[in-house]
Amino acid sequence: MGDYIVRGKNPLDGKLKVYGAKNAVLPILAGCVLSGGTVLLKNCPRLTDVSYTLDILRRLGCKTAFDGEEILINPAGADLWTVEAGGDMRSSVNFLGALAGRFGRAVLPAPGGCRLGRRPIDIHIRALKAMGVDVETDGEMIYAQGRPHGAEVQLDFPSVGATENVILAAVTAPGSTVLTNAAREPEICDLCRFLSAMGAKIHGAGGDMIIIEGVGQLGGCEYTVMPDRIVAATYMCAVMAAGGRLEIENAVRPHLGEVERVLTRCGAEISWASGRVDIRAPKSVRSCGTVRTGVYPGFPTDCQSQVMAVMACSAEPAIMIENIFESRFKTVPELRRMGAEIYCSGRRALVRGGELHGAGLRAMDLRGGAALVIAALGAEGESRVSGTGFIARGYRDLAGELASVGADIVSEDR
Ligand code: UD1
Repeated sequence: MGDYIVRGKNPLDGKLKVYGAKNAVLPILAGCVLSGGTVLLKNCPRLTDVSYTLDILRRLGCKTAFDGEEILINPAGADLWTVEAGGDMRSSVNFLGALAGRFGRAVLPAPGGCRLGRRPIDIHIRALKAMGVDVETDGEMIYAQGRPHGAEVQLDFPSVGATENVILAAVTAPGSTVLTNAAREPEICDLCRFLSAMGAKIHGAGGDMIIIEGVGQLGGCEYTVMPDRIVAATYMCAVMAAGGRLEIENAVRPHLGEVERVLTRCGAEISWASGRVDIRAPKSVRSCGTVRTGVYPGFPTDCQSQVMAVMACSAEPAIMIENIFESRFKTVPELRRMGAEIYCSGRRALVRGGELHGAGLRAMDLRGGAALVIAALGAEGESRVSGTGFIARGYRDLAGELASVGADIVSEDR
């Protein structure tokens, strides 16, 4: 993967279209092992995490084809329950619930993913145990044994991944599952809509109590994946840092409520038409005040780094509080190298930005990598962003998309 060379201070102007959501398509792909027929998924993003997941499905014995933005999956030949690939991707943990549901057994690598601090799976394990699946981990691998059955399951924290695993384990299990303190993220609703299209009976998705009545068998389906709210938010932050205006198609207003509120405080002019947001950056970016990440509908942790990058371009101080992950300030040393003053204490960061200058920057995680590109767009002079492989996990040609609306950014092989 090449480095991105960015020359900042070029205002953006134009139209970008948001593609399908990574965080929705990955659990949906895991859910395909439960299907009794062929699944056609539309609006699938070409991302490295999607390729890894298709690789997992093929090794399990599924047939897959990725054509344009459509993925066709036939899981009839799946006869393995051991996930070999995907140790570097947290979402491979979604195969736990799906494989337990299909085979009553699962073996998979303990989660990797972005390096955002400890990524325990105790909530997943307790939930599946309540459903009759014996789950153990030695830190390297996870071993699950036993067919899930309906149960009352209460999560200690509304974990997105654990909610998805319970739903995946429950849809074909005998009996009803009542899941309380469930995550309410839009990607959970998308997974439930997909499973329902295959014949699952799920009530209450989007609320904190989800009831799943197990059905013996699911069929095939055609399903269109929801647009990526984090990509939409990233584009919004990019125009705030670079200046100018953008029309962003396939943006869903309710999914971006907190992001809209925060960027409006920073001086953005935001207006909505059907399925589209128009955003115009102010002459100088104002402070967002204090931004606290939280579970949906709170401010998404996946947008914290990008907003911090915008704040690094503002002369007014701001405070970021990261409530979800413990190590999500990995971009701070890079932003400091560009001239921002940032003081961190535990989960809090005080950002004193201003005139940034270009620098050599290293992406350390997916959203942090996008944040460095955003900061570079707002900086005077040239930046070189390395570690773009992290960015490709969740963005389809970020450099190309931004260049198409006037950013001076190219990908250069080392
Ligand atoms: C999280 C985000 C999700 C985002 C995804 C990808 C939240 C609530 N979740 O989902 O929006 O799309 O990352 O970046 O914002 N935890 C435990 N034990 C567990 C599971 C989780 O202690 O068994 C803790 C985690 O350490 C973390 C918090 O719960 O502090 C959130 O975890 P969870 O929602 O499960 O994370 P993801 O599913 O990765």
